[in-house]
Amino acid sequence: MDHFNLRDGVLHCEDVSLPTIAAAVGTPVYVYSTATMQRHARVFREALAGVDNPLIAFAVKANPNAAVLATLAAEGLGADVVSIGEYRRARAAGIPADRIVFSGVGKTADEMAYALQDGLFQFNLESVAEAEMMSEVASRLGVEAPVAFRVNPDVEAGTHAKISTGAAHNKFGVPIDEARAAYARVRALPNMRIQGVAVHIGSQLTDLAPLEAAFAKVGTLIGLLREDGHVITHADLGGGLGVPYDRDMPEPPSPEAYGAMVARITAGWDVRLVFEPGRLIVANAGVLLSEVIRVKPGVADPFVIVDAAMNDLMRPSLYDAFHAIEPVRPRGEEMVANVVGPVCESGDTFATARRMGAVEAGDLVVFRTSGAYGATMASTYNSRPLTPEVLVTGNDYAVVRERQDIEALIHADRLPPWLGGQDV
Ligand code: LLP
Repeated sequence: MDHFNLRDGVLHCEDVSLPTIAAAVGTPVYVYSTATMQRHARVFREALAGVDNPLIAFAVKANPNAAVLATLAAEGLGADVVSIGEYRRARAAGIPADRIVFSGVGKTADEMAYALQDGLFQFNLESVAEAEMMSEVASRLGVEAPVAFRVNPDVEAGTHAKISTGAAHNKFGVPIDEARAAYARVRALPNMRIQGVAVHIGSQLTDLAPLEAAFAKVGTLIGLLREDGHVITHADLGGGLGVPYDRDMPEPPSPEAYGAMVARITAGWDVRLVFEPGRLIVANAGVLLSEVIRVKPGVADPFVIVDAAMNDLMRPSLYDAFHAIEPVRPRGEEMVANVVGPVCESGDTFATARRMGAVEAGDLVVFRTSGAYGATMASTYNSRPLTPEVLVTGNDYAVVRERQDIEALIHADRLPPWLGGQDV
């Protein structure tokens, strides 16, 4: 459920009409609903009622805006981060270090040192070579590194190839068959404190079976590691639960069904569970609000050219992802259209032959379910400034990221001396 609803024929975010935001901030603009994020955080926590004291670490990559992170911090969420940038943004938004998990295949020594000194909750190691580097860094700093290995359970997640991570051919984690040897190696390294096992098999999962298969393998591994003499107190089950993008498709499994499966599979593990949901918390809490620039005839269907483009919302061009596109003031008629942006690539296509509410030049539309992996994946391709972000609560709203200034875009470049000096 989200808080984007029609009132008197106009789409609102909570109690604020979207035309109000478009008039004040301009388009394109991302609009987020506080109530929706809070609701999703609470629903996920309630779904885990059968689990003792879980740590819910929001996957910051899904939406790293400070206002979003602060909203989720106030709900008691921690953070799953994959770079020093994400780490620092989480901390700046008020997320305590002891609720931060640091994932990612390419952590550098500097990133390790920063988070270690700050007292993070756990590093999820992805290789023995990484463990060796971490041991050196921790020894140099005179601290202990709290670690888990992310294991690769060799499970096909059944999602888009670009967001599947748990198959043997993916770059992520230590092959589960080699995990015992990896843990043995870490035990021999100085300044390392093994505390858990981690797994994450992919994103936008629409079936619980691969998750269950992966978790079952983790459960078996925990038993073997304990036989080997390791003290395993934590298991990080990652994120990945899908959200509904297309109302004509079957609903993904509910958080309740996920929570029940987790409680059943992990019964008797005797660990604290960690979760890393991203999309589930924020996807439906955001829309990308855009204006129709013009409608141009096409061979079959017309092209609806909007002022948002692939640089603002990459998911359709990158993953052929579906986002519902709806007029902000529905006219009560439908059309079939190709919805495209102004960028000079045919891949700048949001929808092809889409049946949708009829729109004309000057109308506002929303791309739904854009709160996750939307603004954060934006670029300035075609020298389009980064899109602003607005957070709504009740009948109030605030710009939580300004539209990037074109002057700033120009002056970020430098001319070398042979082209006339420093300033552009
Ligand atoms: N934990 C780890 C280690 C991850 O790699 C990810 C996502 C998550 C948690 C959060 O997964 P979620 O609950 O959001 O599914 N840009 C793509 C999604 C990439 C996901 C990468 N990892 C998209 O727009 O669909």
